[in-house]
Amino acid sequence: MEIAPEHPEDGPAIEHLLDLAFGPDRAGKTVYKLREGIPPVAELGFVIHDPAKPEIDGSLRFWPIVIGEERVPALLLGPIAVAPEDRGKGYAKALIWHGLGVARALGHRIVLLVGDAPYYEQFGFARALATNLTLPGWVDEARFLGLELVPGALSGVRGMVGRAA
Ligand SMILES: CC(C)(COP(=O)(O)OP(=O)(O)OC[C@H]1O[C@@H](n2cnc3c(N)ncnc32)[C@H](O)[C@@H]1OP(=O)(O)O)[C@@H](O)C(=O)NCCC(=O)NCCS
Repeated sequence: MEIAPEHPEDGPAIEHLLDLAFGPDRAGKTVYKLREGIPPVAELGFVIHDPAKPEIDGSLRFWPIVIGEERVPALLLGPIAVAPEDRGKGYAKALIWHGLGVARALGHRIVLLVGDAPYYEQFGFARALATNLTLPGWVDEARFLGLELVPGALSGVRGMVGRAA
């Protein structure tokens, strides 16, 4: 298995994976409001695949976001999806560790996501780091998590999460 940067020609295969994982109604979710009209961070799109086969087995993207009136820059992790037949093999874990490592190396400081805390805590995401932040729509608050790529990056950061544009 190999993690590779996402290329433009991967787009249709990634859309198919996301349809399988989240259904075609996924664009109605609160996190999609933060992505509307804004491309994902180009350097932080990754796919995981068997180099011997044409299919993509998993995809991870990050979106740029800002927090509060001071518009503190941050990343929104996701969507992440792994093909149903390839789940439980550690592909998502590998993609996330890889993506967070590249994000840190590029100088990003804060990552937020909406997802299952028992899964994302292994990477350092914590509910406690996002309690001063709000999202522009309903989410189950227990699933709204933060991660500091630089220790203390979320200290004193508060307010509404918004689109980066
Ligand atoms: C969530 C998803 C990306 C995980 O992909 P994956 O490659 O199977 O994940 P990994 O192999 O890295 O991790 C699997 C392990 O995490 C555990 N795990 C998976 N989802 C979990 C969750 N929500 N809560 C707790 N543990 C979870 C599994 O039980 C498994 O544990 P094991 O290694 O002890 O068997 C994949 O199931 C998927 O595409 N789901 C549909 C889309 C989705 O829900 N995306 C995330 C939205 S936040």
